[in-house]
Amino acid sequence: MSNDGQSPLRKTFSAGGSALSNAAAEGWGGVSVLHDLQVERLSRWLSTEPGLAEGSRGVLDVGCGSGFAQASIEAAGLTYFGCDMGLHGRETSAQLFWCDGTRLAVRSDALAGVICLEVAEHVADVDALLREIQRVLRPGGAAFVSMPFAQPLHEEPRDFWRWTEHGLRKVFVDVGFTDVVVEPRGSLLSLAQHSLGTVVVGIASRLGLSDRWAVRIGRWTAGVLGRMPLFRRPLRVFPHGYWVTCRKRATAIPNSSSRGLDESPAPRTPGPSD
Ligand SMILES: C[S@@+](CC[C@H](N)C(=O)[O-])C[C@H]1O[C@@H](n2cnc3c(N)ncnc32)[C@H](O)[C@@H]1O
Repeated sequence: MSNDGQSPLRKTFSAGGSALSNAAAEGWGGVSVLHDLQVERLSRWLSTEPGLAEGSRGVLDVGCGSGFAQASIEAAGLTYFGCDMGLHGRETSAQLFWCDGTRLAVRSDALAGVICLEVAEHVADVDALLREIQRVLRPGGAAFVSMPFAQPLHEEPRDFWRWTEHGLRKVFVDVGFTDVVVEPRGSLLSLAQHSLGTVVVGIASRLGLSDRWAVRIGRWTAGVLGRMPLFRRPLRVFPHGYWVTCRKRATAIPNSSSRGLDESPAPRTPGPSD
């Protein structure tokens, strides 16, 4: 990598327009095994999570990006809502709206599920993001959150955090979630494949190959390596990232024995639709 801050990887992540940035915006679908792992694990969560099964069927995708998760959510018979800070000129609707994940303009207790994929590392106040996710979930509702453990800097300068599995458990439990499960996703091998796929795309584009060819070459690396079980297997001590699943408590915790604790939490600043 060059040290001028213009490495192929950086260029790739910040590429503008065309097939190349579409590949990035689509979560590197086809170029990175990470995308396939995300879709597979999300689909499994959607079909097995009991918190999504009853009552309202709305699922909000916070920091939805291109909204690649919409297809999986709708295929599971749930209602998709997406919101993001960067809508890149896309038309908003009741289903797609602008948001700051730390101050969601959504009623409390409204949703069966919230997903938040590869967003938390870009949010300076992660506690506020998780508190908001918890607030908009109905009691017993479920959240599915993913984040990198080893991933090159991206979307700079808004790339603030990396966690370990122990740190993640603490952050989610401290905010008040229950049934918190932290699962390693991929390994240094899937990281290598992801980096290779995206770097190859960047280099090919710098060599002046058409974007279509650059993405084709990137997809070829994913097609060959990404299908090998070795590149998909999680490695606990060096994961590529994590999936966290958790639920909002079904009932409030009785606080009669909480001597010394504040029994009336500070009122939340209301969002526009509260
Ligand atoms: C790496 S992309 C992930 C996009 C998508 N979730 C995915 O997995 O493909 C991070 C996204 O988070 C959004 N984002 C960052 N900070 C945010 C915030 N505070 N509130 C809402 N969205 C945010 C960015 O605009 C970007 O679309």
